[in-house]
Amino acid sequence: MIVVTGATGKLGQRVVEGLLQRVPATDLAVVVRHPDKAQAWAARGVHVRKADYSQPETLDAAFSQGDTVLFISSSEVGQRRKQHQAVVDAATKAGVKLLAYTSILHADTSGVILAGEHWYTELAIRKSGLPFVFLRHGWYLENYTDNAGPTLAQGVLRGCAKDGRVAPALRQDYADAAIAVLTGTGHENQVYELAGDTGFTLAELAAELSRHSGKSVAYDDLPAKDFSAALVKAGLPKPYADVLADADDGIARGDLNDTGRALSRLIGRPTVSLAEALRAALAPH
Ligand SMILES: NC(=O)c1ccc[n+]([C@@H]2O[C@H](COP(=O)([O-])OP(=O)(O)OC[C@H]3O[C@@H](n4cnc5c(N)ncnc54)[C@H](OP(=O)(O)O)[C@@H]3O)[C@@H](O)[C@H]2O)c1
Repeated sequence: MIVVTGATGKLGQRVVEGLLQRVPATDLAVVVRHPDKAQAWAARGVHVRKADYSQPETLDAAFSQGDTVLFISSSEVGQRRKQHQAVVDAATKAGVKLLAYTSILHADTSGVILAGEHWYTELAIRKSGLPFVFLRHGWYLENYTDNAGPTLAQGVLRGCAKDGRVAPALRQDYADAAIAVLTGTGHENQVYELAGDTGFTLAELAAELSRHSGKSVAYDDLPAKDFSAALVKAGLPKPYADVLADADDGIARGDLNDTGRALSRLIGRPTVSLAEALRAALAPH
């Protein structure tokens, strides 16, 4: 059985839909905290297992011996050490065949705040003795394309990444990599640094936005605290704004860049470029 946790999230949905094209629905199980969100899959024959990362006792029935598991990290930043330890413990108790975990790019060396919980989880998985795969995700390209409209309206892209390069990829590309690992062979105990094929600076992103829209967009590089304050002014909660400013600091250091092209090798095609993603995001609907 292939099991996907966090299946009803944006990444998980793409993984499950891709798997449904490759394996029988009855060979798939999703671990979700809200089974109502998985009703359409249940109707197709997918097994739905209800569990919450924050309630360890609910995880007892989440996994079975011999399962091949994609463990999608929790989105509850700050809670993840405890939550993820509970998932690892449940997978260990069940005796799963493979535990593939969605970590962060360069989890072992990255200085971004978000990396701490991922590194903790990788160590917990290694300690469990389970066969593992670490799918170390770079930044999601949607972090930029989802904001293209407001950025264009303002004519300015703010950040604090200086001239650092970031190599993001679309969720769909990361999902396809997970599918390749879950349905392929020879991935045991591999660590994949997954990123887009071609990185860019935020000034280059602003130039690309200008090129696609015909509107002038400038990159305004701010001190980190000023960037965070600008995000708060735009309506983001302070802790989230601080995490984004910290990620830009990481981009300045190169923490969210990688040139190894492991992602395109895993998916057997180039990753979707910034230009292609912007074209799709800015196309009239
Ligand atoms: N690298 C990046 O740029 C980047 C960007 C965005 C997100 N991420 C991270 O990548 C992962 C997947 O991203 P995504 O876009 O799919 O995020 P998402 O849409 O927020 O999905 C998160 C999934 O985790 C589930 N979840 C959260 N807390 C849970 C809990 N206590 N117990 C069980 N399930 C729980 C959610 O369940 P519900 O469906 O019930 O809410 C959802 O299915 C997340 O860890 C996210 O933080 C990375």
